Amino acid sequence: MLNADRIVHGLDGDLLHELYSPPEIQKRVSAMARELSSRFRGEPTVAVCVLRGAVFFFSDLVRQLQIPDLKLDFVGLSSYGAEQESSGRVDVTRWLSLDVADANVIIVEDIVDTGLSMRTLMERLNGASPRSCTLCALIDKTAHRTCKVDVDYACFRVSDGFFVGYGLDFAQKYRHFPGIYELERSEQ
Ligand code: IMP
Ligand code: MG
Repeated sequence: MLNADRIVHGLDGDLLHELYSPPEIQKRVSAMARELSSRFRGEPTVAVCVLRGAVFFFSDLVRQLQIPDLKLDFVGLSSYGAEQESSGRVDVTRWLSLDVADANVIIVEDIVDTGLSMRTLMERLNGASPRSCTLCALIDKTAHRTCKVDVDYACFRVSDGFFVGYGLDFAQKYRHFPGIYELERSEQ
């Protein structure tokens, strides 16, 4: 559903329909931080940012986590190229630096779509013997799920659409836009 009230002009005639404003995003991120804090407060925990789309979500979330024994790490995954649909192949472009054995791992991801990226990541993470593995997504996009993945926490659940802003990109564009927008591309 598009919010006709708030349209931002993008590049090359693209229209960005605002779906979630920055305050709405912050409200959901704070609620997630509270839930994670009460669950993991007394335990060793590693929050893992999936680069690059989760970068703002991760930085807003982890700064609100009240978990004293929290460490931060980063992985890089790439599946989209410059398209709006997953290529069906996931490349790991960066792997963990920390040892996560016996720690609770919180994966912080931008969007779970087909689920292939998160299944690939979780299979590999299991080899590192974490105490537990919890998946937090900014957006759980459900219509194209082909791999069974449990999204433990999601700020927003949508069925379909292509979204940009707050870290999400289309061909590397629009990551720095502050809200979350549904992208309407101009006919080229
Ligand atoms: P999956 O492997 O199909 O679940 O794809 C997940 C990855 O595709 C996400 O981590 C995003 O980086 C990217 N992606 C999926 N949907 C969108 C979208 O609507 N906008 C921007 N990136 C997306
Ligand atoms: Mg991603």
